[in-house]
Amino acid sequence: MLSYRHAFHAGNHADVLKHAVQSLILEALCIKDKGFSYIDTHSGAGGYALDHEWTQKKSEYLTGIAPLWQERQKWPQLAGYFAAIEAMNSGEKLDFYPGSPKVAEYFQRPQDSSTLMELHHNEVELLRQNMSRNAAIHHRNGFEGLPALLPPTPKRGLVLIDPPYELKEDYQTVARTLAKAYKRWPIGIYAIWYPLLAKNVDRSDGLKAALTNCGFEQVLCAELSVSQQADDFGMYGSGMIVLNPPWKLDEQLKPLLPRLANALAQDSYASWHLEWLKQAHI
Ligand SMILES: C[S@@+](CC[C@H](N)C(=O)[O-])C[C@H]1O[C@@H](n2cnc3c(N)ncnc32)[C@H](O)[C@@H]1O
Repeated sequence: MLSYRHAFHAGNHADVLKHAVQSLILEALCIKDKGFSYIDTHSGAGGYALDHEWTQKKSEYLTGIAPLWQERQKWPQLAGYFAAIEAMNSGEKLDFYPGSPKVAEYFQRPQDSSTLMELHHNEVELLRQNMSRNAAIHHRNGFEGLPALLPPTPKRGLVLIDPPYELKEDYQTVARTLAKAYKRWPIGIYAIWYPLLAKNVDRSDGLKAALTNCGFEQVLCAELSVSQQADDFGMYGSGMIVLNPPWKLDEQLKPLLPRLANALAQDSYASWHLEWLKQAHI
């Protein structure tokens, strides 16, 4: 049974890391006029009203996007990400936050394609309402759908994999799906989000090891922690693993991650980590 609804978490620190990295990759793809494909395996609703009662319940955006939005002119390296947010809002006030499909839509040009998968029947309905007709929306399991859609046309592009990890099998399923994806489309860029959890429940090391060994030669890992790691419960940060990252993404993230850790710190344990888990010199 699917119980996760992203509206409860929209705009939190994990969304900031995920969508900032997503935006930098999409910007890199836009450097060439040649079209690119965007595939989202776990799309969510596409966009979120921040005054919705679910989002207001914990108001996670108040310690995520909200403080950055106030001083967005001071973040030129995230201009594309902020432009995607601005496109959903009219004026100064932050009323809406884009999910990953809306972030992608902001960057896309007529020659690009977008395929969005979502399994939850209510979320997929919202996604249909929130997206333009140009996106192909599939009500299906993204782990099964991805290999079936590869290689996409155009043959360059980005896959975003952002499961809720409610099921602990999700970690293994991510790795298995990427091993299949490698066989069908080894040149694609793949960005995988994962949570950093309390010591007794964290599974990020296993995921990192599995993704380092699923075929790809270039594996970059970026993590942002906003508080101390607890023993039993809670998410203290998150990470993005990028397979086949665009040229210089590591150099863009190196100055950005410490600034984000500083700006989003919830205690003195906030930190960041950037590492090539695998880097073949080609
Ligand atoms: C973390 S949310 C996605 C957020 C979105 N990527 C964003 O950044 O705005 C995860 C979504 O995956 C959906 N989901 C869960 N299991 C799925 C599966 N096997 N295939 C496709 N979607 C799934 C959930 O319903 C939920 O909407």
